[in-house]
Amino acid sequence: SGDIFRSRPVMVNDLTTTHHHLCHLESTLPYKLSKLKALATADDDLVLPAQDFSQQAHVPSFEKYLEMYKRSIEDPAGFWSEIASEFYWKKKWGQEVYSENLDITKGKINIEWFKGGITNICYNCLDKNINSGNGEKIAIHWEGNEPGVDGFLTYNQLLDRVCQLANCLKDNGVKKGDSVIIYLPMLMELPIAMLACARIGAVHSVVFAGFSAESLVQRIMDCKPKIVITCNAVRRGKKVINLKDIVDAALAESSQNGISVGLCLTYANESAMKKEATKWQKGRDVWWQDVVSEYSTKCDVEWVDAEDPLFLLYTSGSTGKPKGVLHTTGGYMIYTATTFKYAFDHKPSDIYWCTADCGWITGHSYVAYGPLLNGATVVVYEGAPNYPDPGRCWDIVDKYKVTLFYTAPTLVRSLMRDGNEYVTRYSRKSLRVLGSVGEPINPSAWRWFFNVVGDSRCPISDTWWQTETGGFMITPLPGAWPQKPGSATFPFFGVQPVIVDEKGKELEGECSGYLCIKSSWPGAFRTLYGDHERYETTYFSAFPGYYFSGDGCSRDNDGYHWLTGRVDDVINVSGHRIGTAEVESALVLHPQCAEAAVVGVEHEVKGQCIYAFVTPNEGVAYSEDLRKSLVVSVRTHIGAFAAPDKIHWAPGLPKTRSGKIMRRILRKIASRQLDELGDTSTLADPNVVDQLIALADK
Ligand code: PRX
Repeated sequence: SGDIFRSRPVMVNDLTTTHHHLCHLESTLPYKLSKLKALATADDDLVLPAQDFSQQAHVPSFEKYLEMYKRSIEDPAGFWSEIASEFYWKKKWGQEVYSENLDITKGKINIEWFKGGITNICYNCLDKNINSGNGEKIAIHWEGNEPGVDGFLTYNQLLDRVCQLANCLKDNGVKKGDSVIIYLPMLMELPIAMLACARIGAVHSVVFAGFSAESLVQRIMDCKPKIVITCNAVRRGKKVINLKDIVDAALAESSQNGISVGLCLTYANESAMKKEATKWQKGRDVWWQDVVSEYSTKCDVEWVDAEDPLFLLYTSGSTGKPKGVLHTTGGYMIYTATTFKYAFDHKPSDIYWCTADCGWITGHSYVAYGPLLNGATVVVYEGAPNYPDPGRCWDIVDKYKVTLFYTAPTLVRSLMRDGNEYVTRYSRKSLRVLGSVGEPINPSAWRWFFNVVGDSRCPISDTWWQTETGGFMITPLPGAWPQKPGSATFPFFGVQPVIVDEKGKELEGECSGYLCIKSSWPGAFRTLYGDHERYETTYFSAFPGYYFSGDGCSRDNDGYHWLTGRVDDVINVSGHRIGTAEVESALVLHPQCAEAAVVGVEHEVKGQCIYAFVTPNEGVAYSEDLRKSLVVSVRTHIGAFAAPDKIHWAPGLPKTRSGKIMRRILRKIASRQLDELGDTSTLADPNVVDQLIALADK
């Protein structure tokens, strides 16, 4: 697993010697065109775009990129308003295209784009495409968990379905600004529900259907939805998951805490569970199929301001309470549409498949909104990527002639381990661009993805971004420049990444430090729901004047960016973001747990895994049963995806004399780098370290 964490740039030897003097255009930018040109033939760590790909690409060359990038930085208002004009606005935005303050020392953090502009993102996703003659184009190909079970919706049909649900929501009292929680698996009803909310100006909050009842309660208590939309059950691989039971438990607990949800609209997913077998609360629960189809397929759009909220999506931070990331309408719309178009080189004839779930930001921006805004045909897959066998993805690719395939490094690594035969038995010749997201992709996985999956033909867009950023921030534009396996390469239009040292000083040239963004971009989140102060302190206080991403990054001599992972207390497990504090809170809720400290450790497939040090209560003996029930505690408080891989029995934890846990030491013990423990003399009790080492494999 040596190169799982490619934590420093792969340096290309002879870069530094030539081409020190850059042409005028480049002198304002950190990226060096002339060097790229010189390199393009020289080094085998560069993967060059095929000429015929570049020729047909939206951005065919680095020169073209630089020209567009330069414009986007020098004249953001002009650059973005030109693009925004291609969308439908009931009323154009005001004088100012955007206004911002990212400097906490100058006052409240504030980001606004297209304020005063009146639009609707659902209208732009559906009606606009239909009005331009694409009503009969397939919007969604749906592939069920079981091979052979599938369906599709054209843009016309999708609009009908969205309108019916929108009318149903309105009829049940959902109004502009109200929130709606959606707890659904990857059925077509999930994007339908998101779009229906958007159509009537309601704020959707999709909760990934792998979250536990308690996580759902937390979110219900925070955003107080009028309605919860769910389904009775889902099949994932061989498992049947009873979602309705989870929602029932969550609704019961929320109402005990004073938040009653009046309607639980439940889609009957009878391939997973019969209606009759579903537990039912009369008066509150209603079957989707019983009511929604009764409504008209016409639903007027609720026109909203560009700065009206579109959705809330909860994500993990360094404290126990999830953060409600709030995105607004206009800027998010323009940004997801534009990033999708360029980073995947999307053309009207493409068939696009993103394996992410709509419960995460990737599903919001790049299963639903970005692609539909471009009138794309999207594949939505319900099941597990390795069911019934590890060839399923390529089976789906061949079945729908997928051209653009977007996934996470963890899946690439896991399929790589299963062997090439599962890939090569399928044609995959439709593929043109591959994409990666969620965590750094290590060069060996990159190369396997490129050589084996893409037959050395398809550029890979390794897209760096976050729930908070709404869309891609640092990403290749396929065809425009040579790639370096493992590098997210260059910033998207309008994005100014800077790497700062711990004092907040911007670093130049080849460097390594904290990744921040200078100045706003249209897709930026505007606040944390109900807690603007936390927004300001978490993201804008560490380095005043900048948005701080929480990631580490290096930049090499050619200006390529290399993400090195989180620098805060967030762990990235299979591309899922999990706060160490959240897992610790879940562990200490166990009646026999006195204290817990959680760290992330390298994992061959998951990228990182969760490693927990646990101190049982006085007098409690550590045992296999206790270990298991601690894991169950995390599953019930957060969800199965956050279950620790390892529980390390810790009679004591290494603490400073002031009582602070020294995680640095725990990380070294967890990764068995025992010769790198460093100075332990400042610990209140240095003996605990030896004790922990002795218990390491117990
Ligand atoms: O650490 C970075 C990692 O995922 C984090 C964001 O997680 P989340 O908000 O859940 O969004 C995931 C999907 C965008 C980042 O802070 N990350 C995401 N993409 C990459 C990445 N790290 C390296 N390379 C990427 N391409």
